[in-house]
Amino acid sequence: MPKSKIKGVGFYVPDNVIKNSDLEEIMDTSDEWIQERTGIKERRWVEGDLTTSLMGTYASKIAIKNAKISKNDIDFIIFATLSPDYFFPGSGVLLQKNLQIKEVGALDIRNQCSGFIYGLSVADQYIKSGMYENILVVGSEIHSGGLDKSSRGRSVSVIFGDGAGAAIVSKSNDESEILSTHLHSEGKFADELAVIKPATTFWIDKIIDDDEEDGKGFFPKMNGNFVFKNAIKRFEEVIFESLNHNNYTSKDIDMLITHQANLRISQYIQKKLNIDDNNIFNNIMSYGNTTAASIPIALYEALEKNKIKRGDLVCLAAFGSGFTWASALIRW
Ligand code: ACO
Repeated sequence: MPKSKIKGVGFYVPDNVIKNSDLEEIMDTSDEWIQERTGIKERRWVEGDLTTSLMGTYASKIAIKNAKISKNDIDFIIFATLSPDYFFPGSGVLLQKNLQIKEVGALDIRNQCSGFIYGLSVADQYIKSGMYENILVVGSEIHSGGLDKSSRGRSVSVIFGDGAGAAIVSKSNDESEILSTHLHSEGKFADELAVIKPATTFWIDKIIDDDEEDGKGFFPKMNGNFVFKNAIKRFEEVIFESLNHNNYTSKDIDMLITHQANLRISQYIQKKLNIDDNNIFNNIMSYGNTTAASIPIALYEALEKNKIKRGDLVCLAAFGSGFTWASALIRW
């Protein structure tokens, strides 16, 4: 059976840096609170006419270059985002247009923070089945336009940042391979972290005179504490699921990259798994939570800093809205 590997990674973040002190100017918050509760020092928020698909396009160009392939070699596109350019069509086809890739299939994935690993899993299966050889997997988000930036929304809006990451997943002819992926969901908690309007449950004509005034439903709603407790439980479970499946222990992990939701969550997992500081990579301090983009952005930076070598065992794990959670174990 063919096997797959990540052949190249790219990322893009907007230039506009928003420091915690900038948020102090517009809402009742403090640098101290944000750093203590989340680890975040700054994030990027788009300016001008940047779009989710455009940021994904920029990240993809770097991934294609690093994979040393041509855009004409791409057989399929997978685009993960919770903040698409349009209600429909999905951002995958817009990326295909931007990159001027031939008429290959383009699939959009709606799995929030787990979206990139879900995309990786789909790409892995297509390559293992022999259907495709080079798949572009993208995670890209623009949160900033949809956040409640008044004090009312402070517990959510200080967390999120904009950015994009991309990976070329290709048929592997060497020792590098995606060993396994593990996907989960628990829809009974869908409303614990959600943006519910506008959508078919709250179609435009129904919400016009509804609760427009306080913005309920339009902005992300998050039961932060509940999400936090579920996140630390599911992260641990799904990482162990991937290790057990491949007969490894946490001591075998050379690099753990968790979705960058909150530095305290990553540190909790690190402690639980007894992982050394050298074997985990966090960059939420610089970018905040970029949802589907956070793992490929962190992967890119870890590679740039030579923290991942060929042959390393790399574990990716995510948890987020849905709830959905997922892991991937990779022999780099
Ligand atoms: N600045 C100052 N004070 C604040 C802020 C802020 N930005 N936000 C909340 N507070 C206050 C609250 O009002 C509360 O005050 P009170 O005690 O007087 O009532 C106090 O701080 C504590 O608030 P909590 O919400 O209990 O703070 P907590 O320690 O839980 O931190 C946080 C909040 C950071 C959101 C945390 O719960 C968290 O990270 N949750 C998980 C997020 C996550 O993993 N999301 C999943 C991925 S995202 C996705 O899938 C789209």
